[in-house]
Amino acid sequence: MTYTQQDYEKAVVLIRERTSLQPIVGLVLGSGLGGLADTLQDRVVIPYADIPGWPRSTVVGHSGQLVIGYLEGKVVLAQQGRAHFYEGYAMEQVTFPIRVMHFLGVRKVILTNAAGGINKAYRTGDLMLLNDHINFVGMVGNNPLMGANDESIGPRFLGMAHTYDADMRTAAKKVAADENIKLHEGVYACLSGPNFETPAEIRMLRTIGADAVGMSTVHESLVARHAGMSVMACSGITNECIDAVDTDTETNHEEVLDAGKVIVPRLTTILKGVIRSL
Ligand code: HPA
Repeated sequence: MTYTQQDYEKAVVLIRERTSLQPIVGLVLGSGLGGLADTLQDRVVIPYADIPGWPRSTVVGHSGQLVIGYLEGKVVLAQQGRAHFYEGYAMEQVTFPIRVMHFLGVRKVILTNAAGGINKAYRTGDLMLLNDHINFVGMVGNNPLMGANDESIGPRFLGMAHTYDADMRTAAKKVAADENIKLHEGVYACLSGPNFETPAEIRMLRTIGADAVGMSTVHESLVARHAGMSVMACSGITNECIDAVDTDTETNHEEVLDAGKVIVPRLTTILKGVIRSL
């Protein structure tokens, strides 16, 4: 399947039919983190099912609606839940919402996710600002920018040395310092999932310089950067990754969602501060 500009435009038309607000920031809320969208003021809610072409998440903890409203006086378009590659969606479908944001005129995106902590200093409930990533999914040939390139959107060969916007990271770190919130900065490794990693994989990821691991975000960063958008991304560390066999623990989705509940208030504070600064 290949989307054309008309496909993105159909989604844009539906969104514009439902609201005249012009969003300036796109927010993608990951597993267990959707609660932030409930704080938007004067919000309009659009179920993904109503938007032509929009992929729907089947995962518990992803509610599947677009929420458009004000946060800190700025119009924000928040995706409450996202579709994942491991659900069987093509990369193009997974990143369809980012392209729609581009055609809506959104120039900045803030991506969030639940991630496992690999860095030994990271604890469950911590936050990590991405300053870089390692894209395992892309390395094995699953990259949303593969296929015909639409030069009117962005370049065929995209430079990746400035993926996560320095100004937005500085703003996030300032809010964290002012509000006394622990905020790590590190490298996110993107794997396809849906299984969690083996202990050997965790030790490998640590060796190659990854600080956290997850199953999303990077594809969205690629498509957003391709379209020239500024990107910030933040992980909520929902579990400490298990790096040895035969321990009496196992990673599971429930702990990921439980940790999300304690992460949302601090993540909300940081994102509000960043949005205020835009
Ligand atoms: N691994 C991959 N993805 C995740 C994890 C993890 O440990 N926790 C939350 N998302």
